[in-house]
Parts: sequence; structure tokens; C-alpha cells
Amino acid sequence: MPLSPLPQPLLLGHRGSPRQFPENTLASFQAALEAGLDGVEWDVRRLADGELVIHHDAELKDGRALPQMRRPDLPASVPTLDQALAWAADTGAYVNVELKFESAKVDDRVGRSLDAIRAFGLGRRVIVSSFMPTQLLAARQLAPEIERGLLIHRTYPAPLLALAMRLTGSAALHPQHQLITPALAQQAKRAGWRINAWTVNDGADVARLVALGIDGLIGDVPQVLKQAGGV
Ligand code: G3P
Ligand code: MG
Repeated sequence: MPLSPLPQPLLLGHRGSPRQFPENTLASFQAALEAGLDGVEWDVRRLADGELVIHHDAELKDGRALPQMRRPDLPASVPTLDQALAWAADTGAYVNVELKFESAKVDDRVGRSLDAIRAFGLGRRVIVSSFMPTQLLAARQLAPEIERGLLIHRTYPAPLLALAMRLTGSAALHPQHQLITPALAQQAKRAGWRINAWTVNDGADVARLVALGIDGLIGDVPQVLKQAGGV
């Protein structure tokens, strides 16, 4: 069966709509959707009790370290992965689940995240991403049907990038937007990779990336991303 087409370009709120509501909260996700975006990007981490939650940093703002905390100790505004996925299932939002598992060493966090994602049946509306190729390789082995995106924040030689994409079986490359050159866009097109750029917060950048044929934009300001429809 042919895959259903994705919105082009796919517009995702970075941690939701973080200038309207605290980042990585359900309120922030909902605001991004209501502002007209296709969905959101969020970050997953694990607590001491094994619970997977949505939070960008390894600490809370008050300095308490997440890996040492349990769910009841967290502010209620920090969603669990299941709560965030339930929101996506209910609303029809597209989601980019970034696995913030920052070491190369793989443990059961990847499998548990993928099990949770699978349980919500989001199909092509979900892509998992990571800066760590080993985490994506594990994801490929555990849930090959869930699409993967390789995050990069520096330039790699073209053959090395091709190798990492091939090994991880990634459908998309997720570069920091400043890294996207016409040559990279061309390499992606030839190889059949989508490109989802982050964090795009400026109209001139939106125009440049749309002109390069970039497939997805992830940014903090919905109104800026929505300029992609008009350029
Ligand atoms: O997934 C894109 C972007 O979120 C990666 O960087 O630090 O904002 O999670 P960061
Ligand atoms: Mg992120």
C-alpha cells in the first residue's frame, strides 16, 4: 500500500509553542496546533522510577535532577510520554519524538519509548529522532516500522553522513537549519532522504529553506513557520 503523503512542508512547533506556554507541556502543544501547525516536536527523558516524561533538560528549573526523581515529585505540567502521545492520538497532530538519551550506550529507554509510541497507532504521524546514531540503530532493530530521523548539529563529510543514514535506516535528516546548504539539499534529494530543519524562527530562513525544497520546518513561533505556505 502506498504511504499516505505528509504535509509539504511539515510544520512542527519546537517543544510546542514555547513563547505562548511553557515548553514541552500539553498547553504548549495545543497552542501550536491551534495556531495552524501540523504538530509538534518534543523531548523524552526518563525518571528514577522508570517513567518516561517530556522535558528538554536533565534538570528542572529549580535544579533538581530528573534521573533522580519520581513522577509524583514532578510538577503536574510535565507530561508523561503516554499523556503526550494520547494528546497526539486525540488531536491528529504529527509528532517528532526526540529521544534525549545523550550517551551512545543503549538501554531499555529506547524500547520502552517505541512500545509506548506503537501502542497509540500514530502510523506515519510520528517520527523518532536522536543525535545518537546508536539510539536510532536500536530503534531500527526494535521497531523498524516507526520512521527515524538523524539529528545533526555540525557538518559531516557526505560519505560519513550517507553511512550514518544507511546504518540507522533513517527516512529523514534533521539538521540545525544553518547547516543546510544547496549541496546538502541535493545529497538528500538524490538519496531519497527528507530534510526537517530546526530551529527556524526567522522569515528569511523560512524562505531560504522552502526555496531549497526542505520537507519540514521545526520552530518556536507558529506565525513564522506558517510563512512557508506563502513563499
Ligand atoms: O529536534 C530538534 C531540536 O529540538 C534539537 O535540539 O536541544 O532543541 O532539543 P533541542
Ligand atoms: Mg528537541
